[in-house]
Amino acid sequence: MNKILLLLSAAACTLLACKQSGDKDKGQSPAAEAAFDNKDYHTQSNADSVKGTHLFLDIEVSFDAKTITGSALWDIENPYKKGQIIFDTKDLVIDSVFLDGVTKAAYTLGKPDSVLGTALNVTIKPENKSVKIYYHTTDKATALQWLAPEQTFGKQHPFLYTQSESIHARTWIPVQDGPGVRYTYDAKVTVPKGLMALMSATNPQQKAADGVYTFHMDKPIPAYLMALAVGDIGFKSIDDRTGIYAEPSILAKAYNEFTDVGKMVHTAEELYGPYRWGRYDILVLPSGFPIGGMENPKLTFCTPTILAGDKSLVNLIAHELAHNWSGNLVTNHTWNDFWLNEGFTMYFERRITEAMQGKSYTDMQWELGYQDLVATMEDLKDKPEDTHLRLNLKGRNPDDGLTDIAYEKGAHLLKLIELTVGRAKMDTFLTQYFNDNAFKTMNTKDFIEYLNKHLLDQNPDWKMKININEWVYSAGIPKSCPRADMERFAKVDSVAKKFTTGTKAAALPAAQWSTYEWMHFLRQMVASNINLEQMKDLDQVYHLTQTQNSEKADLWYLLSIKTKYTPAYPAMRSFLYVTGREKFLQPLYKEMMKTAEGKQMASEIYILARPNYHPLTQKVVDEIVK
Ligand code: BES
Ligand code: ZN
Repeated sequence: MNKILLLLSAAACTLLACKQSGDKDKGQSPAAEAAFDNKDYHTQSNADSVKGTHLFLDIEVSFDAKTITGSALWDIENPYKKGQIIFDTKDLVIDSVFLDGVTKAAYTLGKPDSVLGTALNVTIKPENKSVKIYYHTTDKATALQWLAPEQTFGKQHPFLYTQSESIHARTWIPVQDGPGVRYTYDAKVTVPKGLMALMSATNPQQKAADGVYTFHMDKPIPAYLMALAVGDIGFKSIDDRTGIYAEPSILAKAYNEFTDVGKMVHTAEELYGPYRWGRYDILVLPSGFPIGGMENPKLTFCTPTILAGDKSLVNLIAHELAHNWSGNLVTNHTWNDFWLNEGFTMYFERRITEAMQGKSYTDMQWELGYQDLVATMEDLKDKPEDTHLRLNLKGRNPDDGLTDIAYEKGAHLLKLIELTVGRAKMDTFLTQYFNDNAFKTMNTKDFIEYLNKHLLDQNPDWKMKININEWVYSAGIPKSCPRADMERFAKVDSVAKKFTTGTKAAALPAAQWSTYEWMHFLRQMVASNINLEQMKDLDQVYHLTQTQNSEKADLWYLLSIKTKYTPAYPAMRSFLYVTGREKFLQPLYKEMMKTAEGKQMASEIYILARPNYHPLTQKVVDEIVK
């Protein structure tokens, strides 16, 4: 299991009553379907009756105090003439609240909940049109990562970025924080002179001399897509609608990696209809960024660990780009429906990659994804309900349920539908799905109805073959799960076998391998017990310790810990000091913790590395390195 941040999972899981259900969970669960509950249990807001429709955010970022201070002015709609509007906040300090710009409002704060935070309940009159909340953030804000200059590439200036998904937006903005609640926004952000500010909105391409930036997002978006980054950032244009933001010292490298992104947007549009967000830019963050990428509208945030130098990890950009249809346009109604965001995006990502790189290349991604799915099933064997596509996260931390199941089981279901109905019908269906539901939410039950109505009702055999209820409402991998052609991996398998049975590294036909062939090979090496001699041999021929490819490096370091191949340790240490991407960290620390000397090494490394990790990642690694 990797793919996505397990950020909160480890920390949260202990708090949770993860109900176990044995055999009864194996079959279909029509009961779950009948009792379909569409309520979002992860917002305390009353957006279903009184709604903030437009936000004007006016904030100042202080790196000295590590706070964001300012106001959130909400235009409100109160059709039922309710007497209060409720916002989500978490670890925020509310300074004062005004109605219609002038009248001081009465408000109360609810009892803090460790997951949901503190409801801010503002008393309003039917005629009130806006609520303005003055507030500031605290050092507990889980959405914010404040970097000191030495944690950046340039080492001269501090850096700040947000990560709001799933329910962290409320730690930096008082907001009705559910994926089902959309609003437009404007913002004025004041930052120290010399730094640039960027948001999930229209963005500057140059620094403002006075450090004051204004932003506009004219499309309604949910709070989890609110994003801000501040730092010494430069811009380089790719074409008239795409470009790259990064710290000046890595801008050229980032640009070279992503020169095909303009073409990628066209490819996505050819598949499923127009890109509706205006510009598509990418911001490459410092190494501490805890995840691979985040689909912030107009401006994908990504980790620098995909700058491999040969464009081999750009599928992550295809993924975040695809979210501009699946997720940003058609949004999961609650976090229980998360697979509608990520499963669709994974499928769409691979369709983009297939169109740009060909089928045999993409088949390797499908197979690696299938392996991840199998591994996740194993990890979750005591929590079969968490392997349903439709989740039940009520009373739990939503980040806890967000595993590879949504990504890979979801994507494989869509692949099965494609294989069953044929690609042409699948693509027509998906294009219409995105059009019909643009700027709306979708829940699992409505999706199934939509799918039946627009596609599967045409042919009862399709329905039977797909048996979507089994995928959505029961545990495990259905027998109907498709597998990709193994054309290229079959060759890798035979090479792996040769190597483990004595063939020397120099005699292996690996010189032309892509990242994916290497990943498959190295995963096989992890599973088969190769020895120190074989590690040396591989390294001498293929220089794996020196690799600049983070996916290969991560697997190589894992093997190095397992086999005690010490020549790789210095490179691994440097990697762990600077890289905050959690999916790389977890396996390495876990592997070190398996032996006494490994434990020693883990704690030595972690003492130095910890300050460079995101606060939520620190919590997760704290649990591993005890
Ligand atoms: N939206 C997710 C990241 C996310 C999910 C953050 C849930 C917080 C809660 C993003 O699109 C994603 O899936 N990122 C992956 C990319 C990979 C699947 C190509 C990641 O960061 O590893
Ligand atoms: Zn995603």
